Amino acid sequence: MTVCVLHAAAEMFPLLKTGGLADVVGALPPAQSQLGTNARVVLPGFPAVTAGLDDLQPVADLGHAFGVGSVRLERGVLAPHGVVVYVVRCDPFYDRPGNPYLDGAHRSYADNDRRFALLGWAAARIATGADPAWKPHIVHAHDWHAGLAPAYLRAFQRSGAAKVASVMTVHNLAYQGTFPASEFGVLQLPGDFYAVEGVEFYGHVSFLKAGLYYADRITTVSPTYAREIQTQAHGAGLHGLLQTRTHDITGILNGVDYSIWSPTVDDAIASKYTVSKMSGKSKCKTALQERMGLARDDDALLFGVVSRLTEQKGLDLLLSAVPDIVQRGGQLVVLGTGDPALETGMKNAAAAHPGAVAVELGFDETLSHSIIAGSDVVMVPSRFEPCGLTQLYALAYGAPPLVHRVGGLADTVVDSSLENLADDLATGFVFDTFDRAGIVGAIRRAFALKARRSEWKAVVKRAMGRNFGWEAAALAYSEVYQGLGAH
Ligand code: ADP
Ligand code: GLC
Repeated sequence: MTVCVLHAAAEMFPLLKTGGLADVVGALPPAQSQLGTNARVVLPGFPAVTAGLDDLQPVADLGHAFGVGSVRLERGVLAPHGVVVYVVRCDPFYDRPGNPYLDGAHRSYADNDRRFALLGWAAARIATGADPAWKPHIVHAHDWHAGLAPAYLRAFQRSGAAKVASVMTVHNLAYQGTFPASEFGVLQLPGDFYAVEGVEFYGHVSFLKAGLYYADRITTVSPTYAREIQTQAHGAGLHGLLQTRTHDITGILNGVDYSIWSPTVDDAIASKYTVSKMSGKSKCKTALQERMGLARDDDALLFGVVSRLTEQKGLDLLLSAVPDIVQRGGQLVVLGTGDPALETGMKNAAAAHPGAVAVELGFDETLSHSIIAGSDVVMVPSRFEPCGLTQLYALAYGAPPLVHRVGGLADTVVDSSLENLADDLATGFVFDTFDRAGIVGAIRRAFALKARRSEWKAVVKRAMGRNFGWEAAALAYSEVYQGLGAH
């Protein structure tokens, strides 16, 4: 039997992306198809989503829901992989410019509960027959945006629908989708679902908790993060629930879509290169220095950052270490957008060190590739990191990552300690304590290694040789599905 799975998510590359979630939802379904799983996706009908799909066809009229007029279900195809994508058409909710979650003033939309309840509800409707031509065995919900899907499945089952299994994947426990209890009434859930054994979370409605409570299985995006979230320190208030579900939790490391993120095929970078012909990488570095207004100096150790500018990412710590980079003759380039305070901090650092520190505030897919390719070291000093993709991209592009030993960063980067160098294991720079001494120590190791040419080259080569392709993750997800009786 072919297993049919419906992914429910808010973002999917290349249609719409604000972070790694989009990369995962863009790459996992085609990887699953390669293994014989029939994977489809349901997304909210944001303008970028409807504009980016081919052959959009009406599927069903889902009627009135969540206080808005008619909701329609459409189905399109995403080139080049041909993944089938369902679109929930509800223009009053989704036809808004810009970011899918925030208004022009960077505030969450006031009706985000209803906007994303509709996503989970539509997923459950597809699972219970809204498309006469296709029905999934499993609904696979991603993050809080889709967290109510398992709750609606349970509710529909109670009303007589056949059971459809569900998987909840946590990409980031810090974003929980909590709303005032007074909003529960608009969610179209049975009244008794508002309970500790249900969607209630400290007097609020929590979409993520709903998913964690009602889903048949829970996964998260690295083995280390799967352990961390079950501790009080990293459980964001949900560790108690997660501990009770410990046997249902699996940590599955994200992968890299090497058709997009590989220096051998990347059209966005100044010059392609391979592990055996690295001259292109120097060209990428020079091009990046020019593009960003940095001194054109091949010997300057160039650190790169591509990141959302949020508390999670530890960039305040990086700011405290900027003088250490500059005094040693290094350079720093940052691409990011987010918290105003961090944006200002970055701009100030660039102004204080012209020619050595350059910052671009914004979201720029092409520049993100140029930075990963042109940097000597890519920094991801996150306070916590469920998986992290930029360090995986950095490995592929021969830019040894400098990371804090947490979550998926701990699972994917091996420090250039003397022992690890001696054992041919090192692929980057890892610091243990989240403080200035920790990050500065790792920065110093990067400079020290760069000065040892042959060892540096060996680390770069090893980093580029690591394989984080999606196949392993796709296989691991099939095992989770099999555990739910889908073979
Ligand atoms: P997160 O999902 O927490 O933001 P990840 O490392 O998993 O972190 O994924 C981040 C993704 O978003 C990567 O593909 C990265 O290149 C991209 N990204 C982050 N910020 C920007 C930006 N300002 N411009 C372009 N791409 C960005
Ligand atoms: C989240 C996490 C990040 C992860 C990404 C994709 O945004 O912050 O660590 O890589 O989701 O799973």
